[in-house]
Amino acid sequence: MRNELTFAPLSGSETELLAVLAADMQSAKGADAKPAPALLTDDEVVKTAATAVLESGEFKGGANETLLLHAPAGLKAKRLLIVGLGKAGKATAHSVRNATGTVVRFAKPRGIREVALAAPVWDALDVATGARAAAEGALVGDFDPDTYRSERKDVSLQRFTLVVPETADRKTLEASFAEGIIVGESQNFARSLVNEPGNKLTPTVLGQRAAEMAQQVGLRCEVHSTEKLHELKMGAFWSVSQGSAEPPALVVLRYEPEGVKDGPVLGLVGKGITFDTGGISIKPADNMEKMKYDMAGGAAMLGAIRAIALLKPKVRVIAVVCAAENMPDGKAQKPGDVQTAMSGKTIEIINTDAEGRLVLADGLCYARQLGATHLIDAATLTGAISVALGQVNAGAFSNDDVTYAKFETSLTVSGEKFWRLPLGNEYAEMIKSDIGDIKNTGGRYGGAITAAEFLHVFAEDVPWIHLDIAGTAWIDESRPYIAKGPSGIAVRSILEWVRSYIGPQSLNE
Ligand code: BES
Ligand code: MN
Ligand code: ZN
Repeated sequence: MRNELTFAPLSGSETELLAVLAADMQSAKGADAKPAPALLTDDEVVKTAATAVLESGEFKGGANETLLLHAPAGLKAKRLLIVGLGKAGKATAHSVRNATGTVVRFAKPRGIREVALAAPVWDALDVATGARAAAEGALVGDFDPDTYRSERKDVSLQRFTLVVPETADRKTLEASFAEGIIVGESQNFARSLVNEPGNKLTPTVLGQRAAEMAQQVGLRCEVHSTEKLHELKMGAFWSVSQGSAEPPALVVLRYEPEGVKDGPVLGLVGKGITFDTGGISIKPADNMEKMKYDMAGGAAMLGAIRAIALLKPKVRVIAVVCAAENMPDGKAQKPGDVQTAMSGKTIEIINTDAEGRLVLADGLCYARQLGATHLIDAATLTGAISVALGQVNAGAFSNDDVTYAKFETSLTVSGEKFWRLPLGNEYAEMIKSDIGDIKNTGGRYGGAITAAEFLHVFAEDVPWIHLDIAGTAWIDESRPYIAKGPSGIAVRSILEWVRSYIGPQSLNE
């Protein structure tokens, strides 16, 4: 998809489809007066073309609601699509992101290959922020998972044009729009990895994809395997991969901006289980095919560091992705086995299906050894997180309120939903082992929390955030603005969290 920004009058736009956003102006109380939805443009010709239908009351302006007009009067565009943003008081940049995704996903199945969107002109949102959100939403909306279908149903859009008022500041807008493209493409890069089946994307292939990406965006990258795991004494990580014919991959990416010699080093650690059968504690057959997405945390880190490399914030970042395949086999680890992690802690294996925390234990330890001063991990770690939060919010945990506050602020930019859950000694007690230091499961209750406490043992007192994205990394039902399949959750929030660390302390100039 080509993305373009044009500074021109809307009504002159020669396009297959011109989309304009509209906000619902009805306040909850004003039941008598029913104002029509407000079209977010200054263009009088476009407003006139839409007046009749907006005043008819047929279109309410609800989030992602659509209404199509053919041959709109006075416009060069062949079609005018009005897309709802939701209630005026509640709509945000994220509403623009989603509404833009809706525009693209409206066009694709109708064979419309080229669309233009009027950048929302709206006092609640500056045009530049809207432009970034629109670029992101268009790219996210353009993604479809049917890459292995012989005749792809919904091939990519050829062109997305954002039409901006001529009076807008060119430089600011171009930078914002370009940023949105980088972010959207990085999120889609993560989604494309998550979408790959386990037979295509083995740990080795995931390592190759990471290395190719690193080459393209100018990151240092190393991909290690079995030998290095043994050398580093990564007994927890290795125990997961030992039952698979596929060797593990330990992917390390480094972003070192010029001139930044001190300040924080942010460590991004991702779970990269390319397929999770459960191992000897094997999973039931129902839905097991979905366990190809068990590397979504690792993919999120790759997507985030890709965006970081292109946006160049002045803060050092290291990403560590622990990739393995969890298989049952004559060589596989068994319940009751005891493993020694890189940190020296001994782990009693209760359930071989609690493998994510094992690879992350060594990943967190290694990121610290490489110099990380702050840690964030992302993992499709527990089914229990979906029991707690459904498929709406992802789970977040942290041992440090200041670090978490920065993450929470980043959510207002990313539009992603995370909900913080507690840690605590009582939970840590639940994973004490009778034979060794800790065990890898803590029973049925508070499963997402005991899993987080397991990771806490390896993060220790380094400021750390754990993201459990098991319930949100895969979308089961398509939405107007995003396809079903991999969501790319956490890429945008991690990126913004990283950017929150650029301050005077890390600037060496
Ligand atoms: N990869 C799974 C978690 C998962 C479940 C991700 C559903 C996505 C959707 C993880 O490795 C796992 O199997 N966790 C177990 C832990 C249990 C054995 C303590 C779980 O959640 O059942
Ligand atoms: Mn598992
Ligand atoms: Zn897993």
